[in-house]
Amino acid sequence: MTGSSDLTEFRAADIPRVLAQLTLPEKASLLSGSDFWHTRAIPRLGIPAIMLTDGPHGLRKQAGATDHLGLHASVPATCFPSAAGLGSTWDRDLVRRVGAALGAEARAEQVAVLLGPGINMKRTPLCGRNFEYFSEDPHLTAELAVPMVVGVQSAGVGTSLKHFAVNNQETDRMRINAEVDDRTLREIYLAAFEQVVTRAQPWTVMCSYNRINGTYASQDPWLLTELLRGEWRYPGLVVSDWGAVDDRVAGVAAGLDLEMPSSGGLNTDRIVAAVRSGELAEADVDRAATRVLTLVARAGEAGTDPAPVDFAAHHALAREVAAAVAVLLTNNGVLPLDPAALDATVLIGELARTPRYQGAGSSKVNPTRLVSILDALTERGLDLPYAPGYRLAEAADAPGQDSSDEQLRTDAVDLARGRTAVLVLGLPAADESEGYDRDHLELPESQRSLLAEVAAVADRVVVLLAHGAVVTVAEWIDHADAVLDLWLGGQAGGQAAVDLLLGEATPSGRLAESIPRTLAQVPAQLNFPGANQVVRYGEGLFIGYRGLDATGAEVSFPFGHGLTYTTFAFGDLTVTTTPITDATALDAVVIRVEAYVSNTGDRAGVAVPQLYLGRPGSAIARPPRELRDFARIPLEPGATARVEFTLTRRALSHWDTARGGWAVEPGPAEIAVGASSRDLPLTATVEVSAPQPRVRLDGTATVGEWLDDPEAGPALRAVLGQSGADAEDPTMDTFLRALPMARAAVMSLGQDISSQDIVALMERHGAETSD
Ligand code: BGC
Repeated sequence: MTGSSDLTEFRAADIPRVLAQLTLPEKASLLSGSDFWHTRAIPRLGIPAIMLTDGPHGLRKQAGATDHLGLHASVPATCFPSAAGLGSTWDRDLVRRVGAALGAEARAEQVAVLLGPGINMKRTPLCGRNFEYFSEDPHLTAELAVPMVVGVQSAGVGTSLKHFAVNNQETDRMRINAEVDDRTLREIYLAAFEQVVTRAQPWTVMCSYNRINGTYASQDPWLLTELLRGEWRYPGLVVSDWGAVDDRVAGVAAGLDLEMPSSGGLNTDRIVAAVRSGELAEADVDRAATRVLTLVARAGEAGTDPAPVDFAAHHALAREVAAAVAVLLTNNGVLPLDPAALDATVLIGELARTPRYQGAGSSKVNPTRLVSILDALTERGLDLPYAPGYRLAEAADAPGQDSSDEQLRTDAVDLARGRTAVLVLGLPAADESEGYDRDHLELPESQRSLLAEVAAVADRVVVLLAHGAVVTVAEWIDHADAVLDLWLGGQAGGQAAVDLLLGEATPSGRLAESIPRTLAQVPAQLNFPGANQVVRYGEGLFIGYRGLDATGAEVSFPFGHGLTYTTFAFGDLTVTTTPITDATALDAVVIRVEAYVSNTGDRAGVAVPQLYLGRPGSAIARPPRELRDFARIPLEPGATARVEFTLTRRALSHWDTARGGWAVEPGPAEIAVGASSRDLPLTATVEVSAPQPRVRLDGTATVGEWLDDPEAGPALRAVLGQSGADAEDPTMDTFLRALPMARAAVMSLGQDISSQDIVALMERHGAETSD
C-alpha cells in the first residue's frame, strides 16, 4: 500500500512497516496537525489525514474559515443542551443516546474524533465555561461522561476527554498555575477523568492549557505518562488543547502525542533538532508517531460509510433531552398550567423570542432548526399575549428593542395585570463564554426589576430561567409562584419548555450544582481567580456542596434538588456490610444498600434517589457527605420501587497522601438516602471494618501513632508500663500521644524510663532515631 491515502485502506497492521520507512522529519511532522482540524497525511506511504473537531453537545465542523473560538460558520448540526443541562438529567441512558446521535452526525461529516466531553469540575460558579461542564461533583460527572463517550464511540467516532486536567477557570487559562494538593487532585479534580478513562476508553484525551503545581499539563510526565498510562493503563492518544503547547520537545518526552493545531512546521523542526542533538530520544518520537498512526488506523477501521443522519429524529431527541434537563426549583401548584386558563396567561421576556440555547466559544453549533418558546406556542396555535419586557443585546434588531428598559417594563406590567405571567429570564450571551469568567452571579437588573413589578400586579408568576451557569435567586425567588430552570436547552428548548408548562412532559431534572444564596458563601472564592499567574486551591476538597455543607451555609437550593409534578416518599433502608481485609479488591462491593421509593402523588414522575456517604469522627478532613450512587426511577401514581445501591472499597476510600494510595479508615459510616444532598430522610450508621492503615513508624511518628500500631504498640506500652507512665490516663494521653517519638526519646517519657529504652524500641522497628 503506497501512494494512496485512503482512510479505509490504512490498517493498524501497517504501522510497524510504515514506521520503519518514515524519515525522522516525517515522523516528527506527524506529531502536529496539518492545519486547524486535521492530522498530517503522508501520501508517499499511504498515510491519510483525519479530522478532529468540536464539540461536546453538537458538531462544529467548519467547512470554510477556521478558528477555535466559534467565530466562523460551521455546517448545520443538531444542537443538544450543553453539559450543564445534561448534568441535571442524572440520566445515564439519555446521555448515551445523545452521544450516539453526536457520533452519527460526526461520522456523516467524516469527522474521526469529536472534541468532548468536557468534564472539569465546577470549582466556582463563576467559571465562564461551566455551561460546558457537567457538575461540581466528580461521581455524577463520571456517571454521565462514561455513557457520553460510549455513545459517541458506538458510532465509530472517537472522543476527546477534556481538559486534562485542573482547567477550572478561564481567567489566564493559558498560563495559570493551579496549586492543588495531592488528595484534592485525586478525590476531586482527577476522579472523573480516572473513571472515564478506565471505564469508557476514550480514543483521545485532550490536555489542558494551564499548569498544575508548576508544570504545564502539555508537558507533565507525571500527568501524561505515570498517572494516565501507568496507573490508569490508558492506551490511547493525548492531544493538546488548541495552542496549549509550551515546550514541544518536553511535551513529546512527557507523553503529549499530537499537537493541535498545526505549528506551521516550527515544532516539527524543533523535534528533529532535539533528536539530532541527543536532547530527545528518537524512541519518544516513535512512540508518539505510533499513537497518531494508531488513531488514524482506528478511524479507518471504524469505516467511512456514513449512514444518512435523520435530523428530524435528532431534533425530537433534542426536545426530549431539553425537557429532561429542566429542574423545577419551586412550585406552589401553578405548574403545570391549567389548559382551561391559558386565555388568562401572558408571556413576557425577550428570551422567549430570542432564545439563549447554547454558550459561546469553541462549542458553538450552527443548529439545524431553532424553536423559541414563542414559536413553540404559536406552533400549537397558542398565541399568548406577549411583551419583551427588557432589552437584550443580542436581540437588538427585534421589534421593540429600540425602546428603553423602562418602557418595555411598563408595557409588560400592563399586560400582566390580573393574569398568570410566564416570565422568561436569564443571562445575556455576553455574560458567560469560553475565554473569560463571570464576576457576579446575578440576573441583569432590568430583569429583576421587571419581575418585582410584574409580581406586584399579576395574579400568578411563573419564571423560566435560561442560562449556562448558576445564577443567584435568593433576592427574587419570593416573587415567583414557580421557577423552572431550563439551563441552555439547545435547539428544541422552546418546545420542551412548552411541553413542561402544559404538563405534557414532567420535570425530572435535579441540580448538578448548588445554588448558593451569595457568592461569598463559596469557599473557593477566597482563592479565585488567583494573581501573578498562580491560583491556589486553598479550599481543598471543599467545592460545591462539599464546601457549603462543611461551613453550614444556608443555600437557596442544594445539590441534587429538583421537584416534579408529583411527590415521593422514601422508606425501609437496609444496609449490609462486608468486612474489608487486605485482600479486598478496590472494586469489590463492600456495602449494599436497599431502600424503597413510592410515588405518593397523583401524576407520573421520575424519582432520583441519591445515596450520600459521611464518615463521622474521621481522623482526616472530610466533607460531611459525598454522593456515592444514585438511581433514576420513573413511577406511576401509587407505585413503589425497590432501589439498590452498592459501594465498593474504592467508594469508601480516601487518598492517603502519606502512602500515595487509596485507603479505607475503619469506623462509623453514615449512609443517607433521599431526594437531595439536604433532604435525606433515610439514614443508617454502620461500622466499617477494615485494617487500621499503618503509619510509617519513624522518629516523626507520634507516640500515639506508635501506640496504635498493632506490633509496636504493645511493645511501647510495655516500656511505658515499666516506667509507671500511664498511656491510658486521658490527660497524660493527649500530651504524650502528640509527641514525636524521636523527641520523646530525647526527653524521656517518665522518670524511670530511659531514652535508651525508647531508642532501642525504635531501632527494633527500623525507625530513624532522629528527626
Ligand atoms: C478549547 C477546546 C476546543 C478547542 C478546539 C479550545 O479553545 O479549549 O475545548 O476543543 O479549542 O476548538
